[in-house]
Amino acid sequence: MTFHYDVLGDEFTHAGVASSKVKKILKQLGVPAEIVRKVAIAMYEAEINMVIHANGGVIDGDINEDRIYIVLKDEGPGIEDIKLAMKAGYSTATARAREMGFGAGMGLPNMKRHSDDLKITSEVGKGTVVEIIVFLS
Ligand SMILES: Nc1ncnc2c1ncn2[C@@H]1O[C@H](COP(=O)(O)OP(=O)(O)O)[C@@H](O)[C@H]1O
Ligand SMILES: [Mg+2]
Repeated sequence: MTFHYDVLGDEFTHAGVASSKVKKILKQLGVPAEIVRKVAIAMYEAEINMVIHANGGVIDGDINEDRIYIVLKDEGPGIEDIKLAMKAGYSTATARAREMGFGAGMGLPNMKRHSDDLKITSEVGKGTVVEIIVFLS
């Protein structure tokens, strides 16, 4: 099955809606809880990043018996140095995002840790594409 979500930018209070929906779908499909948790964390972090860093974007996903594939695409500012951005604690989050509890700089490390395959491609001034694969069995 496939899924698609549009994620609005700067909607801090609604952030995380798509990942909680996917979490629900996987639970209903009978995917083991620890795997659902991995997907939920990795996707949540990527979804939040689109909201707080990139003014929103689109999410497409595909679930089969073996794996879930999620691609999150935005047209935000892009990431200049992905290696640096991956470092624990690195964050360019705004004061407002921090006030809302975001901006700990742990999103990308968490994504890496909870996905079986993570690919980030980004072009400054154009946007960012995050691809996440988690094996389901
Ligand atoms: N989709 C994105 N668009 C632009 N920059 C991003 C995006 N995702 C991550 N970044 C950059 O990578 C940094 C680290 O991301 P992350 O580890 O999730 O920390 P945080 O979101 O708490 O700042 C961000 O502060 C930002 O500079
Ligand atoms: Mg983040």
